[in-house]
Amino acid sequence: MIGVLVSGGGTNLQALLDAGLPVVAVASNRADAPALARAAHVPRAAFELATYPDRAARDAAMADWLREQGVELVVLAGYMHILTPAFLERFPNAVVNVHPSLLPDFPGAHAVEEQLAAGVAESGATVHLVDEGVDSGPVLAQERVPVLPGDTRETLHERIKAVEHRLLPEVVRELCAR
Ligand code: GRF
Repeated sequence: MIGVLVSGGGTNLQALLDAGLPVVAVASNRADAPALARAAHVPRAAFELATYPDRAARDAAMADWLREQGVELVVLAGYMHILTPAFLERFPNAVVNVHPSLLPDFPGAHAVEEQLAAGVAESGATVHLVDEGVDSGPVLAQERVPVLPGDTRETLHERIKAVEHRLLPEVVRELCAR
């Protein structure tokens, strides 16, 4: 049973849904995240930081809700907040993230721009286990994506996302079968 955390457009959430994976809950740090609309048939909830005393309290409430929905594996699909121990200790070794670079190179929220600025010839998509750091847990799967002449943030990110949409469901399917 999978819970997906989203903050943005939700194309990776869509890929998980299209793959027929058992997504039973979708949560966001933003009530207005467009991704939430993609899962109208699934229990959804927003946990906005402003409505909790601190990040740990928000994360504990989010973990409680996911557990109530029967979630055993959490997938971060464009979730833009760092998870605190209050969350991670509720899902030991069972939180995965997808990131648009060949980690450990270019962690963080601006990976695509930073790769273009650095002039790398190759980018990639990485699926990894989540720890308390920024995009720092053990890598589960990684695939290279070429950077082409004239690439913009948008064109490169689209090329990476096309790979993410295949790689993430593959890895999640394997984890579900463990
Ligand atoms: C993806 O590129 C993912 O690697 C990164 O955020 C982006 C999310 O895109 N963490 P979407 O919301 O799934 O379309």
